[in-house]
Amino acid sequence: MKILMVGQGGREHSLLWKLAQSPEKPLLYAAPGNAGMAQIATCITIGATDIVNLVDFASQEKIDLTLVGPEVPLTLGIVDAFEARGLKIFGARRDAAMIEGSKSFAKNLMRKYKIPTADYEVFDDPKKAKAHLDKVGAPIVVKADGLAAGKGAIVCPTLEAAHQAINMIMEERAFGDAGSRVVIEECLTGEEASFLAFTDGKTVLPMASSQDHKPIYDNDQGPNTGGMGAYSPAPVVTDDVHKKIMDRVMLPAVQGMAAEGYPYKGVLYAGLMIKDGEPRLLEFNARFGDPEAQPLVARMASDLVPVLEAVIDERLHEVTLEWRPEPTVCVVMASGGYPGSYEKGKVISGLDEAASVPGVVIFHAGTALKNGKVVTDGGRVLNVNGIGKDIREAIANAYQGVKKIYWEGVHYRNDIGKKALDRLAQ
Ligand code: AMP
Ligand code: GLY
Repeated sequence: MKILMVGQGGREHSLLWKLAQSPEKPLLYAAPGNAGMAQIATCITIGATDIVNLVDFASQEKIDLTLVGPEVPLTLGIVDAFEARGLKIFGARRDAAMIEGSKSFAKNLMRKYKIPTADYEVFDDPKKAKAHLDKVGAPIVVKADGLAAGKGAIVCPTLEAAHQAINMIMEERAFGDAGSRVVIEECLTGEEASFLAFTDGKTVLPMASSQDHKPIYDNDQGPNTGGMGAYSPAPVVTDDVHKKIMDRVMLPAVQGMAAEGYPYKGVLYAGLMIKDGEPRLLEFNARFGDPEAQPLVARMASDLVPVLEAVIDERLHEVTLEWRPEPTVCVVMASGGYPGSYEKGKVISGLDEAASVPGVVIFHAGTALKNGKVVTDGGRVLNVNGIGKDIREAIANAYQGVKKIYWEGVHYRNDIGKKALDRLAQ
């Protein structure tokens, strides 16, 4: 069996690592991949959004199954293109991926299907957006409607910051056309959690809970990033909260998408704010989270291949998922300067020593091979996962691995997993 993984981040390395352990013993390919993925797959130099060449490659190589990591190829219609050529592919179709690709589409779905979320209004005109801001006041959240690499949601503590956000998004077009429309919404408080599920459009098969750490600095300070660390399970998602998320968010969304004529297949990711045991939805994503996928995949005991196939063949009701009980903590190591500008090509040392720490698994993100050495090649560079008998041990293992790795300018947060520890200590 031949499997192609589309993407090049830590999420994609973790999924490929999991596929490599399948009893199906698949032959693995990655497009374009990274230095870590190159150890277990044949990396091909086709970018994740080069759909025409990806379809041709899959067709010529007779790839049996393709798995898509990032959102951009999904919103560009990679799944539709593969299906049109009779190729099996896992992911949301273009129309269904609007659940992530357009925040106004997602919010309107939430309103129509009574999914609990922040109150909101949608604007195409900056003057009207600002007049609305003046009416409702701060704190408030301003979001670019389209995709903005996780940076398009701006939490504004003051009215002035909200006006600036409108200027940046709608007038300076910091996110390009993604900012021709904005969603302005109520600012929610509470603790965030990520809830991911496989779905074939009918059955919703939840994964274990997880939690991301978006801001760049410790104690959630500084600008948002794609995610600086994650852990699973997230204690804030109690059994009761889990049931509410399934009943009020996941099932209505999948049923609603089908009713709207956009049947949803793939991974549905809900980013939630939980307060006093009540979950409210911040956003949907049409794919695995990064870095949430890393601890989730590390904890997944079931073979992934039959799950992907069951989603594609729309027989997910036949599948169950087993999870290892050990908590897993993923610390992201990033280039100095990220999420702003940063240098590439720094030589990374200590990878083998870190990988030999018991309970540590490392997934690469922005890495490349240069003259036989692993060098930095992106903002988020490595994901060091610690697995332990409890969250405390998982955190200790992860940081024992992290401390063995070095490159010039490396940056990571020192408090990944702390919220889970604090909650368990309550
Ligand atoms: P999003 O791209 O919608 O997930 O937003 C990115 C981050 O912005 C979230 O993870 C939250 O930390 C924050 N955020 C988004 N929407 C809200 C909201 N309505 N209230 C408070 N924080 C929010
Ligand atoms: N970690 C957040 C995301 O994948 O969107």
